[in-house]
Amino acid sequence: MDRETGPVMLSDKASGDKAAVSAGPISSSTEIKLTAAEFRQISDLAYQRFGLDLKRGKEALVAARLGKKLRKLGFQTFAEYHRHVLADATGEALIELIDALTTNHTSFLRERAHFEFLGRAVNEEFREVSTLRVWSAACSSGEEPYANAMASSPARQFRIVATDISTRVLSTAERGVYPVSRFDEVPEDWRRAYLLRGRGESNGFYKVKPQLAQQVEFARLNLIEPFPQRAPFHVIFCRNVMMYFDKPTQQNIVQHLAGCLERGGYLFVGHSESLTGVEHALHYVCPATYRNQKPEGGSRLWR
Ligand SMILES: C[S@@+](CC[C@H](N)C(=O)[O-])C[C@H]1O[C@@H](n2cnc3c(N)ncnc32)[C@H](O)[C@@H]1O
Repeated sequence: MDRETGPVMLSDKASGDKAAVSAGPISSSTEIKLTAAEFRQISDLAYQRFGLDLKRGKEALVAARLGKKLRKLGFQTFAEYHRHVLADATGEALIELIDALTTNHTSFLRERAHFEFLGRAVNEEFREVSTLRVWSAACSSGEEPYANAMASSPARQFRIVATDISTRVLSTAERGVYPVSRFDEVPEDWRRAYLLRGRGESNGFYKVKPQLAQQVEFARLNLIEPFPQRAPFHVIFCRNVMMYFDKPTQQNIVQHLAGCLERGGYLFVGHSESLTGVEHALHYVCPATYRNQKPEGGSRLWR
C-alpha cells in the first residue's frame, strides 16, 4: 500500500488568529506572509468549490504550496491572489488552486489488489455481463483507468468512464503517452498487447493503443457537484481522494456513488482511506472494497 503525501503531511502549530505563516522569499530580502484572515478566505473557497477540508494547522501547507504560485504570478499578498482566483472567469485559476493544494500522484496498478480483484470479477462474477461498465472517479493522469481497461480486456467488452476535477491531468490522460519507466509494474504481456513503443523523438515513451484508448472516455467532474445520470456501473474506483473531504462530504459522495452502482457492483476506495463513520448502504467485502448488496448465495470471490 502506498501512502499519500498530500495535505495531511504539513502542519503548523502557530495558527492563532494573529499568526502569519511565511511563504518563503520573493527575493532574498522579502517574503510573503499568509495571515489568518487570508488562510480563512482560501480554505473557505477550497471547501465551497471542491469540498477540500483545510483545517487549522494546514497554514504552512497552504503558504508553501500557493506561495510558489504567487511568486510566479507576481502577487505580493495572498489576498491579491485570492481576488485573482475569484475574478478569473475561465475557472483555470481555480483549477490551478486545487492542483496546488492536492496531489495528482498515481501509478499503473497502484494498490494492485484492486486490479487483481477486478480481473477475477471480470472472469467470474461478471462473466454474464455483455459490456462491463467501470467508472474511475478522480482518475488523475489516466494510469488508473487504462490499467482498468487492461485488467478487463480481452475477456470482456467494457466501457470505462474516467473523471477528475483537474483539466490539466485530464489532458495528460487523454494523450495516453507516458515514460517507459511508469510501466515498471505492468506485466510484459499487457505491454505487448496494449501499448505502442515510441521511436525517434518518442523514444522512451509508450502510447496506449487506440483500440484500448477509445474505450475510455474522459470528462471533467467535481465529486461534490451533482452527478450526471448514466447507466449504473459494475465497478467504481474512487481512490485516494476521499482523504481530502470531511465526513459529511464523504458521506454525500459515497451515497451518490452507491446510487450509481449496479446491484452486486463494487466500490473501491484507497487502502489508506476509511469509510468508518460514513453512513452508507454498501457491504464491506475486504479492505478498501465495498459491494452494493450481497449477491445471493454469497460472493464467488470471497468465501
Ligand atoms: C491522488 S489523486 C488519485 C488518483 C487515483 N485515483 C489513484 O488512486 O492513483 C487525487 C485526484 O483527485 C482529484 N480531485 C481532488 N478533488 C476533487 C474533486 N472535488 N472532484 C474530483 N476530483 C478531485 C485531483 O485532481 C487528483 O487528480
